[in-house]
Amino acid sequence: MLHRYIWVVSTILLGTCTATFGFPSPSVDCTSVPLIDATVDQLQQGLRQKCFSSVDLVTAYLSRIYEVNSSLHTVLEINPDVYGIAMRMDMERRHGNPRGPLHGIPILIKDIIGTRDKMQTAMGSYALIGAQVPADATVVTKLREHGLIIMGKTSMSEWANVRSSNSSNGWNARGGQTYGAYYPKQDPSGSSSGSAVSTDLGLVAVTLGSETSGSILLPSGLNNVVGIKPTVGLTSRYMVVPISERADTIGPIGRTVKDAALMLQAIAGPDPKDNYTLASPFSDHLPDYAAACNLAGLQGKRIGIPRNVLDAMDPTVEAIRTAFDNAVTILQDAGATIIDNANYTAYTNYTQSMSPSIVVAVDFISNLAAYLAQLTRNPNNLHNLSSVRDFIQNHPVLEDYPSRDTNTWDMALGAGIDNQSPEFWALYQESLYFGGEGGLLGALARNNLDAVILPTILAPEIPALVGAPGISVPLGAFPEGTPVQYNSRGDLVTAAPGVPFGISFLGPKWSEEALIGMAYAFEQRTLVRGSLERHVEARTEVRVGRGVFT
Ligand SMILES: *[C@@H]1O[C@H](CO)[C@@H](O)[C@H](O)[C@H]1NC(C)=O
Ligand SMILES: *[C@@H]1O[C@H](CO)[C@@H](O)[C@H](O)[C@H]1NC(C)=O
Ligand SMILES: *[C@@H]1O[C@H](CO)[C@@H](O)[C@H](O)[C@H]1NC(C)=O
Ligand SMILES: *[C@@H]1O[C@H](CO)[C@@H](O)[C@H](O)[C@H]1NC(C)=O
Ligand SMILES: *[C@@H]1O[C@H](CO)[C@@H](O)[C@H](O)[C@H]1NC(C)=O
Ligand SMILES: *[C@@H]1O[C@H](CO)[C@@H](O)[C@H](O)[C@H]1NC(C)=O
Repeated sequence: MLHRYIWVVSTILLGTCTATFGFPSPSVDCTSVPLIDATVDQLQQGLRQKCFSSVDLVTAYLSRIYEVNSSLHTVLEINPDVYGIAMRMDMERRHGNPRGPLHGIPILIKDIIGTRDKMQTAMGSYALIGAQVPADATVVTKLREHGLIIMGKTSMSEWANVRSSNSSNGWNARGGQTYGAYYPKQDPSGSSSGSAVSTDLGLVAVTLGSETSGSILLPSGLNNVVGIKPTVGLTSRYMVVPISERADTIGPIGRTVKDAALMLQAIAGPDPKDNYTLASPFSDHLPDYAAACNLAGLQGKRIGIPRNVLDAMDPTVEAIRTAFDNAVTILQDAGATIIDNANYTAYTNYTQSMSPSIVVAVDFISNLAAYLAQLTRNPNNLHNLSSVRDFIQNHPVLEDYPSRDTNTWDMALGAGIDNQSPEFWALYQESLYFGGEGGLLGALARNNLDAVILPTILAPEIPALVGAPGISVPLGAFPEGTPVQYNSRGDLVTAAPGVPFGISFLGPKWSEEALIGMAYAFEQRTLVRGSLERHVEARTEVRVGRGVFT
C-alpha cells in the first residue's frame, strides 16, 4: 500500500479559497484517507465540513483518470458538462439543501447506460456512435436526482461480450483494451471492465455496471472491489442497451459494501417503463440497504456450499480454494452455520446444454430491435441485429473484424426463432430449471438456506438464469510463484502473482438486504482490499481549500 495522506486544515491555506466554495471553520479537522480508499461517507464528511468542494473532487478525479487512462484505458469519455453539474451541486449545498448521502459525489457509468446529454451511449462500438436516446435511463435520472455527478462513461467488453466468441474481456472498438491494475496486461474481466478498474483505482467514488451473466460480479472479483448484481427487476433497465430482458440488471460497483449499498438504494425501485420492476415485493418501500451493513450480518445465517460446483473448478487454482476454505472458517466464527453439499443438482446437465445461451442470444434479437426503434437519432440506420452485424462486418478496421468475430450473433440469427416462438418457450423453461429447482433456488429451498457462497469465478452463471441476486467481495490474490496464465487470445494475463479474486454471496430473489449484511460482516472481518498491491496507481489527491496537488 502507498502511504496515507492526511489533509489538515492549516492557516497557511486561508486566502486560497475556490470561487465556488467556502472554507472549513478553524475548528473542523479535515483529515481523511487517500482517494483510492476514501468511502462515500468520508467524502461526504469532507464536503459537509467544507474541507473541499465537489468541483475540487471532480478536478482531482479527472487528473487521476488522465494519470492512468493512457496505460489502462478505463474511461471512454468525460462528460463535457461535469464542471457545471459539480458547481450546481456545490451551490445547492451552500444554500443548505443537500439531496442526501450521495449529494455531490462523482460517479462513472458503463457505456451501456443511456444518457440524454453530450455523451455517447455506444456499447463500446462505432455502430452506435452518434445514436441518441430519447431520454436518460431511469437509473441515470435517479443518479441526477440524488445529486451524483456523472463524470463520464467507462470502457467495457464490446456489446457486453455478446458479439464475439474470440474477443477479449474489456476490449471495445471505441477505447481499445482495458487492463486491470495488479499485473502488466492483467485481464480486467468483463463486461463492466472499466467500471470495476476505475472503482478500484479511485478514479471516482463509485460506478455503475450491468450484468446479464457475470458482468458485474466477475470484474468486481478480479479487480478487488465490491459488486452488487441486483435481482432482475430491482433496478430499471429503461434506456439501457438490452441483451436479455430476462437476465439484464443494473448494479453498483464500490470499494466497500457500504458504498455499493448506498448506491443500490439510490438506483433501485419500481419504474412503469420497465415492467419487470413492477414484480418487486417492495413497491416504493425499499429495504434500507445501508442500514443492512451490520457487523452481526452473519449471525444465525445458514450458508450453503454447492460442493459439486466447487469441485468442477480448475484444480490449478489452488490459491482460490485455500482462500475459500479460510473464508468458511471466518463465516462460522461470525455466527453462520455452513451446510456443505448444498449442490446444484442439474449442474452437470447445465454445463452440457445450449439452451441458456440460446435464450439470451434470441432475446437479444427482439430486445435490441425494440431499443433501436426508440432512438431519436440513428445515424447508421440500425434497426435490428442483422443490420448491426452488417455494420461490424463492413467496418473491419474500426471493429477489428474478423480477428474478433460475430459468432454469438451468427448463432442467434441462425437459430431462426425469436422470443415469441413456441420453441423459445421450451428452451426458456429448461434454462429456468437449471437455475431454479436444479440450481440455486433448489439448493436454497431444500437446505433452508439464507445464501450460498462460491468463489466469484464460479458464481454468476446459475443465478443469472433465474434473475437472482449476488454480491462479490474481495477474497484474496494469487501468491508469489503463481505461473502466469493467459486468455485464449494470448493477450491478457488471467492469473499471476498479485491478481485478485473474490467470493460471492448468492441468494433468493429480492434478498439483497440479507446478502449485504452477510457481505459486510465478512468484509469487515477480512479487509482484504487494503492488503493487495497494484503495479499502477493514480497519485493525485484532493487538497483542502486549494484544488489539487500531485
Ligand atoms: C482513454 O484511453 C482510450 C484509449 O486510448 C481512449 O479511447 C479514451 O478516449 C481515453 N479516455 C479519456 C477520458 O481520454
Ligand atoms: C407493460 O405491460 C403491459 C401489460 O402487458 C403492456 O401493455 C405495456 O406495454 C408494458 N410496458 C412496457 C414498458 O413494457
Ligand atoms: C454433492 O457434490 C459432491 C461433490 O460432487 C458429492 O461428493 C456429494 O455426494 C454431493 N452431495 C449430495 C447431497 O448430492
Ligand atoms: C440430466 O439429464 C439426463 C438426460 O436427459 C436426465 O435423465 C436427468 O434426469 C437429468 N438430471 C437432472 C438432475 O435434471
Ligand atoms: C433489418 O434492418 C434492415 C435495415 O437496417 C432492413 O433492411 C431489414 O429488412 C431488417 N431485417 C429484418 C429481419 O427486419
Ligand atoms: C476469430 O474467429 C474468426 C472466425 O470466426 C477468425 O477468422 C479469426 O482469425 C479469429 N481470431 C483469432 C485472433 O484467432
